[in-house]
Amino acid sequence: MSSDAELQGDLSPSRVRDAVLLRDVVFRYGKREPVLRIPELRIGLGESVFLYGPSGSGKSTLLSLVAGVLQSTAGTVQVLDQAFDKASAATRDRVRGSRMGYVFQSFNLIPYLSVRQNILLPCELYRERLRHMREGSLHAEVERLAQRLDISALLDERPSTLSVGQQQRVAIARALIGYPALLIADEPTSSLDANRRDEFVALLLEMVEEARQQGNATTLLYVSHDMGLASHFSRTLSLSEINQASQPEGGRAAA
Ligand SMILES: Nc1ncnc2c1ncn2[C@@H]1O[C@H](COP(=O)(O)OP(=O)(O)OP(=O)(O)O)[C@@H](O)[C@H]1O
Ligand SMILES: [Mg+2]
Repeated sequence: MSSDAELQGDLSPSRVRDAVLLRDVVFRYGKREPVLRIPELRIGLGESVFLYGPSGSGKSTLLSLVAGVLQSTAGTVQVLDQAFDKASAATRDRVRGSRMGYVFQSFNLIPYLSVRQNILLPCELYRERLRHMREGSLHAEVERLAQRLDISALLDERPSTLSVGQQQRVAIARALIGYPALLIADEPTSSLDANRRDEFVALLLEMVEEARQQGNATTLLYVSHDMGLASHFSRTLSLSEINQASQPEGGRAAA
């Protein structure tokens, strides 16, 4: 199911139109009421989308479906032209590892690896991730990202010696290495104050724009409940508007 041929064939650029296409998607945890019922969600290649919704409304669940960590209960989930609703876990892992960057609220840096090793990790795990890089440019790419994110002096440190803001920038470098086709961010700014939050999002979008200018379009799906960030993005989506599942107690009311 997850051979190179299958991946390469399905991911050839000419066949990829939408980065993300969901149709009639239902997702439920076990036998509980569905958390998501989404008739349609379409994200075009190269779009930067801000998705907001109250706590508990299903934002992280939706991102997990798009990242292929979870599989829909019903409906079509097409991501980078792969049918995630039908693909094996191994195929979904490979697509995620080789073509996506993912930044979580907790940055999930590996404590016993240096900053440099953390940034290189996706490339160590998934060699296909290097397909957009010139031979031998990997370490130069780490230096470039580190310089851009102002963490060059920290490359040989352990994450535990870094400030939260610095750790967050390491997580961004790790998500951006190898020019991922899809970058998914789940509330990565919730531990920052408003000024630093805006700075962070502006920098992230600048880096996505730079990649685009070099011919590597990155589609960005950014989730937050902080509407103040919406103006940075090319499109804003309300999860409550696209999701027809009834919300859990307090779901819609929360900030
Ligand atoms: N592993 C799980 N098992 C069962 N229910 C879950 C699980 N994860 C989430 N849920 C439920 O699914 C609903 C949506 O959760 P989700 O984490 O997607 O919300 P969210 O919008 O990301 O919230 P927040 O803004 O607080 O991160 C919630 O009611 C939650 O309790
Ligand atoms: Mg969440």
